[in-house]
Amino acid sequence: MSVLTIRRPAGRTILRVERGLIGRAGPLIAALGAGPRVEIVTDSTVGRHYAPRMISSMRRAGLRFGMTVLAPGERSKSLKSAARLYDRWARAGADRTTLVVALGGGVVGDLAGFAAATYARGLPWIIFPTTLLAQADASVGGKVAVNLEQGKNLIGAYHHPRAVFSDPEALATLSDRAYRSGLAEVAKMGMVSRPAILASLARLLREGRLRDAAAILPLIRACAREKARIVARDERDRGVRRLLNFGHTVGHALEAAEGYGRYTHGEAVAVGMAAALRMSVLEAGLDPVSAAEAEFLLSRLGLPTRLRKSPGKRFWDALARDKKRGRAALRMVLSPAIGEAKVFELPSLTTLRRVIESLVRSG
Ligand SMILES: NC(=O)c1ccc[n+]([C@@H]2O[C@H](COP(=O)([O-])OP(=O)(O)OC[C@H]3O[C@@H](n4cnc5c(N)ncnc54)[C@H](O)[C@@H]3O)[C@@H](O)[C@H]2O)c1
Ligand SMILES: [Zn+2]
Repeated sequence: MSVLTIRRPAGRTILRVERGLIGRAGPLIAALGAGPRVEIVTDSTVGRHYAPRMISSMRRAGLRFGMTVLAPGERSKSLKSAARLYDRWARAGADRTTLVVALGGGVVGDLAGFAAATYARGLPWIIFPTTLLAQADASVGGKVAVNLEQGKNLIGAYHHPRAVFSDPEALATLSDRAYRSGLAEVAKMGMVSRPAILASLARLLREGRLRDAAAILPLIRACAREKARIVARDERDRGVRRLLNFGHTVGHALEAAEGYGRYTHGEAVAVGMAAALRMSVLEAGLDPVSAAEAEFLLSRLGLPTRLRKSPGKRFWDALARDKKRGRAALRMVLSPAIGEAKVFELPSLTTLRRVIESLVRSG
């Protein structure tokens, strides 16, 4: 067993990555001193697979629970869904002793965490993340949000869960596409901070063990711990936490330009990382061989690293809207060497335009 505690000025979060945690939800919650009343939030796909084992464990532990089941997908990360949770919790007489339990991917986590942050000025919450993306990345760090039509994550808060219980066995039912999307964030952590993660990914690929729960577990743990370490140093995204945006400047612009339909988050970030690697060669002194190797690893993981056509006005507009830009024409996280990252302020978009074209041409 390996339990990591993330200490923050305002409290602490327990972080566990272990097989079988969902089936032990009851005793895990009881050990937190929470309950007896809990409110589960899940989506219908995850609920079908994993709610029964969670519920029977809760029953055995004598917990009383309510459950809200959402439609799967990004559209559920809305104010409307949040209102549904508030309504349900109010009817159930929820108060600040009620524990919210999120069971699902990044969508369920962001929504349940946001509703927990705002209901009665803050209910305690925990999460059992069920996608690779959520286990390796989204569940750690306390950012919770819902989307508006005008943009993703526009209404949000910082509200850390009391515990993150990641059960890699749950990944068995995940679609290949969603799984690959999570691998993009795992690779990102390797590129900005832990190059050993890239070596492990390459080895698992060679051995055909990328989807083996026992093999992927140490990588999830490494990513979650590294993110926790970074967040502990910079909770509010003012310094080192920004390095986790590697690949996200271009990635977010692609998602926005395509209306969040064509790419999953991880796919958009993979193309964004290919762009960031090429930019790093031109602007940050990254050795071109290392950049090409890293890009090749992404494509061997089954992730896109090319554009089918030149992105149009919507892409460049979205890029210009990037709120973290400051006075520079472009602020982008680049990598001077694999395993290191730094924020660069670039005076013009010229290099990025060339790099984006190179991704189209070499397609
Ligand atoms: N808060 C953060 O720091 C942070 C970081 C990164 C991403 N995010 C957010 O996370 C969201 C994306 O998360 P995601 O990729 O986990 O998407 P998701 O939650 O939509 O899950 C993807 C799909 O997989 C299904 N699914 C989930 N777990 C499953 C399982 N174990 N078996 C079978 N199917 C399963 C879901 O029903 C859904 O259809 C985005 O909204 C993004 O903004 C948040
Ligand atoms: Zn991301």
